[in-house]
Amino acid sequence: MRIAVTGANGQVGRALQQMARSGEDAVIPFASAALDVSDASAVRDTLVPLAPDCIIHAAAYTDTDACEVQQERAYAVNAFGTGYVAAAAAAIGCPLIALGTNYVFDGERDAPYDEFDLPNPRSVYARSKWAGEIAAARTGAHLLVVRTAMIYAEEGRNFVRTMLSLAERGAPLRVVADQWGQPTYATDLARGLLALARQPIPGVYHLTNTGKASWYEWAGATFRMAGLTPEISPVPASDFPRACMPPRNGVLANRAAAKLGITLPPWQDALHRCLISMGRTDQE
Ligand SMILES: NC(=O)c1ccc[n+]([C@@H]2O[C@H](COP(=O)([O-])OP(=O)(O)OC[C@H]3O[C@@H](n4cnc5c(N)ncnc54)[C@H](OP(=O)(O)O)[C@@H]3O)[C@@H](O)[C@H]2O)c1
Repeated sequence: MRIAVTGANGQVGRALQQMARSGEDAVIPFASAALDVSDASAVRDTLVPLAPDCIIHAAAYTDTDACEVQQERAYAVNAFGTGYVAAAAAAIGCPLIALGTNYVFDGERDAPYDEFDLPNPRSVYARSKWAGEIAAARTGAHLLVVRTAMIYAEEGRNFVRTMLSLAERGAPLRVVADQWGQPTYATDLARGLLALARQPIPGVYHLTNTGKASWYEWAGATFRMAGLTPEISPVPASDFPRACMPPRNGVLANRAAAKLGITLPPWQDALHRCLISMGRTDQE
């Protein structure tokens, strides 16, 4: 398959490119400099003549705290931009896989959220991403929304890399222990996205590594696997007020993809593989 990828220099975009190098699919990557998804005519003029077999839309304004002050930009990229990409997919007649977020849920209940639960976004980032889902659906595109969570990879701005560098500085760490989600390795997610591209039944999908963890548990596992022993203590999220608070419970039930035989491995296994690939652990 020829798969066009937006946001190709992001964590998911890079993982898709990496995966395509070792598989049968040809990824046509569009970094933000090559295609600004908030530019409606650029999106149409770039994607429609290309006529790919599938588009994976991984571009987003993902700085969740900055979205609170950059509301125009958040909506331009995450809401309108997603609509423009969907309109191009509709014009081509190819499936669109658009990345979504667990932040669309308010996280107030204790059970995992499945694909049929109603979103209740609480931040600008979350509202703009939810607006993107709606905008895309209204184009009539052959749409698969794939909501995920807590993405990390060998490169990029992510929690694993932040924790490793903080631990190396040697300062005592205080990490939030009362917010939960599913750490999701970009490589595993990319594999799942490519599997969905092969059986593109339209709908909403939740796709994460399995299990669940608080930030504190995730940090602890990272340090254990990397052989680091920083002083680390659990703290409530209220100790770290942020412009955009993650949902208390951001755990996603992956029902729809599982029905198609697509499930991602446990998060601990994924984290271990990522740390091996980063050269941060040699424990096999
Ligand atoms: N990261 C997470 O924990 C997480 C969790 C749940 C869902 N998601 C969703 O998963 C998707 C991929 O996330 P990710 O972790 O790969 O994000 P990422 O690493 O931040 O990558 C996003 C990419 O989008 C690009 N981009 C930003 N504005 C753009 C624009 N106007 N036009 C074109 N490209 C633009 C960025 O390019 P520049 O770097 O040049 O700005 C960046 O390369 C996004 O839809 C995100 O909302 C992420």
